Amino acid sequence: MKISSKITSPIEKEMKKFEPYYKKNFDTKIPLLNIITNYLIRRKGKQMRPMLVFLSAKLNGTVSDGTYTAAGLIELLHNATLIHDDVVDETYQRRGFFSINALWRSKIAVLVGDYYLAMGLIKSLEENQTEVLRIVSKAVKEMSEGELLQIEKSRKLNITEDIYYDIIRKKTATLIAACTSAGAYSVGATDEDVSKMHDFGQNLGIAFQIRDDLLDYEKPTWQENHQAMI
Ligand code: IPE
Ligand code: MG
Repeated sequence: MKISSKITSPIEKEMKKFEPYYKKNFDTKIPLLNIITNYLIRRKGKQMRPMLVFLSAKLNGTVSDGTYTAAGLIELLHNATLIHDDVVDETYQRRGFFSINALWRSKIAVLVGDYYLAMGLIKSLEENQTEVLRIVSKAVKEMSEGELLQIEKSRKLNITEDIYYDIIRKKTATLIAACTSAGAYSVGATDEDVSKMHDFGQNLGIAFQIRDDLLDYEKPTWQENHQAMI
């Protein structure tokens, strides 16, 4: 069995159910928003974050409605930050296709990102998932801090290994830690287990970002072959 199937097979049923649940977030009467949303849904990425929410939930108990809310909120916020990132970095490709700012304008991309962010917040409030909202909002705050720290350090070129770890922990690992801790929390795990799952997610996120950074230094042919994945 392939490693990726080993990871996904225990949560196949949940991910199937997650798909229409997630799409419901995007019901809107604004035609432009619908066009952009459909475009985004068709190029949805690896969905690693909702998968981690479900895996952590299953490891610690029985998947609940709160697990779906957490997975949906995190994936929405993740997509909102990617859309904003591509505007800030002036990136014109994402997941092997054109980015939102490349096809539409930057202003539209910023507004769509804001809309997804707000949708995520409204959904979790409607479903009374305030703890999930607290975990995830804290992660989003740290992500912005991490990005700002990175901009400041790359401008001055005075980065050390400690600062590099601080940046990647904030900009990437905190959201992965939010996935694993919110997943555990959603099935009623003890505070101790939620905290352990948080630390596991954080380490996984750090490893993931180091790998992502290394890929930037590898042969361009690698990127061409794997563009749809990154
Ligand atoms: C991209 O994350 C942003 C980073 C933290 C490197 P992913 O590579 O998990 O994004 P998608 O959702 O699969 O495109
Ligand atoms: Mg990537």
